[in-house]
Amino acid sequence: MSPEKLIEHAYIAQKRAKAPYSNYKVGAALHVKNDIIVLGCNVESKAYPTTLCAERVAIFSALAQGHESFMAIALVTSDGAFPCGSCRQILYEYAKDIPIYISNASSNYKKYSITELLPYPFG
Ligand code: THU
Repeated sequence: MSPEKLIEHAYIAQKRAKAPYSNYKVGAALHVKNDIIVLGCNVESKAYPTTLCAERVAIFSALAQGHESFMAIALVTSDGAFPCGSCRQILYEYAKDIPIYISNASSNYKKYSITELLPYPFG
């Protein structure tokens, strides 16, 4: 699947974000085996730290649905921000070898590896 296609799916996920407090919507699209795509979006809570990031929603959902083999992940935000430390750790542990496409609202994206984003991982 092309990065552009995966990013399109991440935009769909971003629209589903529940971000009434930060107003910052994040979308994730995880390409798992057999051309299946698992989406994730950030879900915020009135108890702020209970919030979950889009990346972890996608990865945890995929694992819960029995997907173990991941091919690529696309992340979209308005400004093309990088994933937080907690999400980098989970990407390192569960999706170590996959390309990470990070896109802004204009579909400008760059490809990263988790080694670039988390050079000294805990593991
Ligand atoms: N957020 C993510 O979804 N992923 C990240 O990697 C960083 C932050 C969300 C959490 C919160 O809902 C909003 O972005 C602002 O921090």
